[in-house]
Amino acid sequence: MSSTLNPGKLRLGVNIDHIATVRNARGGDNPDPARAVEAIVAAGADGITAHLREDRRHIRDEDIARIMAATDLPLNLEMAATEEMVAIALRHRPHAACIVPEKREERTTEGGLDAAGQFDRLAPLVARLSDAGIRVSLFIEPDARQVEAALKLKAPVVEFHTGEYANLTGEERAVELKRIADMAALAAKNGIEPHAGHGLTYDNVVPIAAIPQVAELNIGHFLIGEAIFVGLEASLRRMRDLMDSAR
Ligand code: PXP
Repeated sequence: MSSTLNPGKLRLGVNIDHIATVRNARGGDNPDPARAVEAIVAAGADGITAHLREDRRHIRDEDIARIMAATDLPLNLEMAATEEMVAIALRHRPHAACIVPEKREERTTEGGLDAAGQFDRLAPLVARLSDAGIRVSLFIEPDARQVEAALKLKAPVVEFHTGEYANLTGEERAVELKRIADMAALAAKNGIEPHAGHGLTYDNVVPIAAIPQVAELNIGHFLIGEAIFVGLEASLRRMRDLMDSAR
C-alpha cells in the first residue's frame, strides 16, 4: 500500500488467507476470500494481504486474479523467494509483494527472512519485482543486520515479524517491543517504510500500533477467527479503532 493512501494514518492490511482455509476444508467455493473486500472497505481497513504458499494450502492462484478484479484496494502478495512466485507476481503485478521465508512443514510463517544470509539470491529477485513497479517488502526479524541487508537490497519496505512479541509476556515482551521500536526507527531513518505483523490481536496490538514509524500492520488469523463470532466487518472495525486509539 503506498504511503500516499491515508497519509499519516496507520494502515491495516487484512490477511484473508484463513477465509480460504475454511473454504478448502470442504473443497468447494464457500466462503469466498474475495467477498471480504466489502467488509474491508466498510470497516475502514486499507488493503488486502494474501499469501500464495507453495503448497496452496489456503489462497490459490485463481484467487489472486479474482481478488484483484473485485477491488481497487491494494493487494499485498506474500510470497516465497522462488522463480515460480516471482513469475506469478510479475503476471499479476500486485501493489506490493512481501517476501517471506517458507517451509513446507510449518504451520505458519515461522521466523523472518534471512535477508543478510541470502543476499545474493534475493538481490536479482527484488530488482525484478521493483523494476515491474511492485513495492517489495521483506518480512524480517527486528534485527539491525537484517535492516542493513534490506537497505542494501534497496527494498522500500520491511515488515517486522511480531510473532515473538505476541508469544512473550511481561518483561520479555517489553524487551521485544523495544527491539521492534528501535528497528522501526532505524529503518525509517534509512528511508525504509516499516510495517509489522504476525500474531497480532486486540490484546497485543496497541503497543505495536503506537510505534510512530510503523506505517502498516498486516493482521489475519485473529481477525478471521473473531469474525466467526461477530462478523467480519465488526471484527475489523474493532481492530481499526484500537489501532487509531494508539496514535
Ligand atoms: N505478515 C506476514 C508476512 C505473514 O506471513 C502473516 C501470516 O501469513 C501475517 C502478516 C499475518 O499473521 P497473522 O495471521 O498471525 O495475523
